[in-house]
Amino acid sequence: MAMTQDDLKRAVAQAAIAHVPANCIVGVGTGSTANFFIDELGKIKHKIQGAVASSEASAKRLQGHGIEVVSLNDAGSLPVYVDGADEITRHLHMVKGGGGALTREKIVAAASRKFVCVCDASKLVDVLGKFPLPIEVIPMARSYVARQLVALGGQPKLREGFTTDNGNIILDVQGLQILNPVELETTLNNITGVVTNGLFARRPADVLLLGTPDGVQTLTA
Ligand code: A5P
Repeated sequence: MAMTQDDLKRAVAQAAIAHVPANCIVGVGTGSTANFFIDELGKIKHKIQGAVASSEASAKRLQGHGIEVVSLNDAGSLPVYVDGADEITRHLHMVKGGGGALTREKIVAAASRKFVCVCDASKLVDVLGKFPLPIEVIPMARSYVARQLVALGGQPKLREGFTTDNGNIILDVQGLQILNPVELETTLNNITGVVTNGLFARRPADVLLLGTPDGVQTLTA
């Protein structure tokens, strides 16, 4: 029987468990692939101390499995962070934030020694940017930031009816030429009023577990 996208996501989530050291606190991402990983963590919960969650939604799911959710400030540096992506290149640069959790994801990733990205094969791209780039913005800066994004050649669109876990808005930006993700990540972060942008290039993934119909492929940068 043909494998579904969910089968591929489950396979990479299972493979990611091999990257979780015993007795550690695990950094956990957000989204449908991360949810499969949380379900796998539930099966080995007695082998870990707990988890740091990158969103309220992931925290709830972890707790639902009886896994202790620890605040990042109490956990300190983490050995590993496991999360999905909306797009990823062979350099392991990513676009993230489709679920709107980009800021907490970037914080937990920054505090982790290893970033394991788990994706089905549809997420692998040659050039980032087809997926609209999510940018978390302080609400009062919405129009100002949108004008700056237009000046950079983007077409920002407010994510309607959505507020982030941090009480901010998301602008989804289309039309950006993301040929140099490291540089663009810095440029966007320097716009006053931007909290975080969804480019994860300055701190890329260290390992990509890519789910394909032929099995899970492991890519490193
Ligand atoms: C959440 O904010 C995102 O960064 C997710 O990591 C990303 O959207 C991947 O989600 P899926 O695994 O559901 O595609």
